[in-house]
Amino acid sequence: MNREELLDATIEDDESSLRPQSFDEYIGQTSLKDNLRVFVGAAKIRDEALDHVLLYGPPGLGKTTMSMIIANELGSNIKITTGPSIEKTGDLVAILTALEPGDVLFIDEIHRLNKVVEEILYPAMEDFCVDVIIGKEATTRSVRIDLPPFTLVGATTRAGDLSAPLRDRFGILSKLDYYTEDELTQIIDRTSNVYKVPMQGDATHSLAIRSRGTPRIANRLFRRVRDFAQFYGEETISNERTVEALDRLKVDNLGLDDVDHKYLLGIIQRFKGGPVGLEAIAASIGEEPQTLEDVYEPYLLQIGLIKRTPRGRVVTSLAYQHFQILEDE
Ligand SMILES: Nc1ncnc2c1ncn2[C@@H]1O[C@H](COP(=O)(O)OP(=O)(O)O)[C@@H](O)[C@H]1O
Ligand SMILES: [Mg+2]
Repeated sequence: MNREELLDATIEDDESSLRPQSFDEYIGQTSLKDNLRVFVGAAKIRDEALDHVLLYGPPGLGKTTMSMIIANELGSNIKITTGPSIEKTGDLVAILTALEPGDVLFIDEIHRLNKVVEEILYPAMEDFCVDVIIGKEATTRSVRIDLPPFTLVGATTRAGDLSAPLRDRFGILSKLDYYTEDELTQIIDRTSNVYKVPMQGDATHSLAIRSRGTPRIANRLFRRVRDFAQFYGEETISNERTVEALDRLKVDNLGLDDVDHKYLLGIIQRFKGGPVGLEAIAASIGEEPQTLEDVYEPYLLQIGLIKRTPRGRVVTSLAYQHFQILEDE
């Protein structure tokens, strides 16, 4: 199983049944959550729309989930769309003019909005209005339409790709971090309760440490491990079964999979450990540079297996140790 499958961004039914519904149920991201609690609470006291929120961080850390919780906690409706699906300005105008006061508009992958569409958002976010052009040729004129006060929640894996004017219009910028082992253990416990499939404590731990700090991966792996246990007729998922299943899924003891291995071994074997440019390593292992950069590298950086230098990516001694390869001087 590779990371593309693990991180498939589509919202599955399975995934929605697992989504926490409130701040209290949402595990981890403590400071982000506690701050949002204050901002949401204060907006409710003032009976105003919450300021616009940008959630950013690697895939699978809970951005979509958090945006739904924000709407729940505000007691508001949420309209969900994605950057790439809004092709024309008219599409966005239609979405905006259909909003009710206090609604949350969630735009996933907001960095992928096209420029012309994005410009419609500026006055919408700042002054709650849109300017539309009506009429034909010589008789065209611009008409201003007022919008109800609403909250835009944007989510992105690439905050750096957002234009400055767009970024500046968010009053609340929240970065999601990888989860700790302990938080992942709690998330897996919760998943096991939701599915009513018990898992032994040490098994939960084995799964947590191989989930790359990512709830989506923890939940996916849980479902696969559950398959193994059920197939072999076990009611409670044991640690032995968990470790065996994860080995068979080619997830190693750091949670790294085939693509991570190809990437790290590629740098070690073909580029003498680096530095090597992203494009070069991507081409040499047949992966998209953007996928490597968004999905694989953040975790490898986080656990210290690679470093980014001005001259390119370098693997660290830890990576050599992980593969038990001698590092030559
Ligand atoms: N803090 C959390 N506590 C419990 N489960 C979570 C948490 N964050 C994410 N999840 C689970 O992980 C899955 C992926 O989360 P999602 O919000 O879709 O991530 P993102 O939008 O950042 O890619 C969801 O099914 C959700 O149930
Ligand atoms: Mg999402």
